[in-house]
Amino acid sequence: MTGRPSRRQLFGYAGAAAAGAAVTGGAVALGKDSATAPDTALVAAQNISPYGDRQPAIATASPKHAELVAFTMLPTTDKAALGRLMRLWSNDITALAAGRPAPGDTAPELALPGVALTITVGFGPKVFGLPGLTGRKPHGFSEVPAMSLDRLQPGWTGGDLLILVGADDAVSVVHAVRRLVADAAPFAKPLWRQTGFWNSTGADGQPVTGRNLFNQVDGTGNPAPGTPEFDATVWNADGSTTLVVRRIRLNLDTWDELTRSEQERAVGRKLSNGAPLTSTAEHDELDLEARDADNRLVIAKNAHARLSHHSENDGRRIFRKGLNYVQDTGATRESGLIFLSYQADLVSQFLPLLTRLNAADALNEWTTTIGSATFAIPPGFHEASWLGEGLLS
Ligand code: HEM
Repeated sequence: MTGRPSRRQLFGYAGAAAAGAAVTGGAVALGKDSATAPDTALVAAQNISPYGDRQPAIATASPKHAELVAFTMLPTTDKAALGRLMRLWSNDITALAAGRPAPGDTAPELALPGVALTITVGFGPKVFGLPGLTGRKPHGFSEVPAMSLDRLQPGWTGGDLLILVGADDAVSVVHAVRRLVADAAPFAKPLWRQTGFWNSTGADGQPVTGRNLFNQVDGTGNPAPGTPEFDATVWNADGSTTLVVRRIRLNLDTWDELTRSEQERAVGRKLSNGAPLTSTAEHDELDLEARDADNRLVIAKNAHARLSHHSENDGRRIFRKGLNYVQDTGATRESGLIFLSYQADLVSQFLPLLTRLNAADALNEWTTTIGSATFAIPPGFHEASWLGEGLLS
């Protein structure tokens, strides 16, 4: 028992909200009549507006379920065709985010309001090689060069277009993806798909930093959405940003052979609550100078949280929003992290960090990057415009 409301309770509320005016409401407390949820349980039953100067999913809470699909453009897809696809997708996104079926939906009953459905669209490097778009590559956008420790598989690497669909309900994600992929068929075909999940709600229903499958609290060092630091890290002036997707396999078998304190030393933070090893609370600052009784650095030289810390990287920051994944083949399970990093300038913010971690990160012993892709994330759209209009019209 998780103490979470059941799907029926969630959708019971969502349905009621949809019938009323304020479909975009925030968290709602469940009443005492709920048999499975504690009094304090909060449900983020809401629609997230698809409109805005920036695509909305980036600065909103991580979805419980998400799917990424990268596409290869068909040879016939030129700038004008890409514009047609973006108009189609913008209409789809407007409908699906409101819980309405998309135009031509073959399974309209699967469109549900109140599940915080968001859809993010990105352009891969090849888009900026299309006639009419050369010279339009955003400043600071590039591919990620293969790192010496990468073991990239073509099936998880690259892509000309991306959709990232998230929601608090897996059926809604699958349904939205199916619609978007169907509408893309005359223009682009799927290259890879990745499905992930994340839990950023605590047992009491309150928001928490989620955990990856190493059991680490993951996301503490992120700049917080809504702060000037976040805006400077993520957004360009026009509302665009860049996204790096890395599929990172976690070797849980060898990780589980470590003692808890060995696991904590690899990152420099506590497993219990994510606090620095030099402190007690999750959001306390790391003390990178502190030494133990044997004069050893408490947060080791190769600890992940030290090597990636902005104070050790000329102030460079990124905004990470990972998803856990599992992939089953018969009785065999692979586990990992779909590492997602947003930054205004991929070249100057992300690449130096990655290079440094590739060279020295203690975590490298238990992780292997098997997929990598980058996408320019165009600004958001409004009722009278469409995604990518600034680039493609
Ligand atoms: C599977 C691989 C990885 C795992 C399991 C992992 C896990 C973690 C954990 C547990 C933290 C500490 C808590 C936090 O601040 O979120 C952290 C921090 C961080 N990680 Fe990773 N990470 C991984 C890969 C990466 C990569 C590839 C990068 C960038 C290239 C990166 C960049 C960062 C940054 C910037 C921080 C925050 C440092 C700060 O406190 O300022 N991580 N990571």
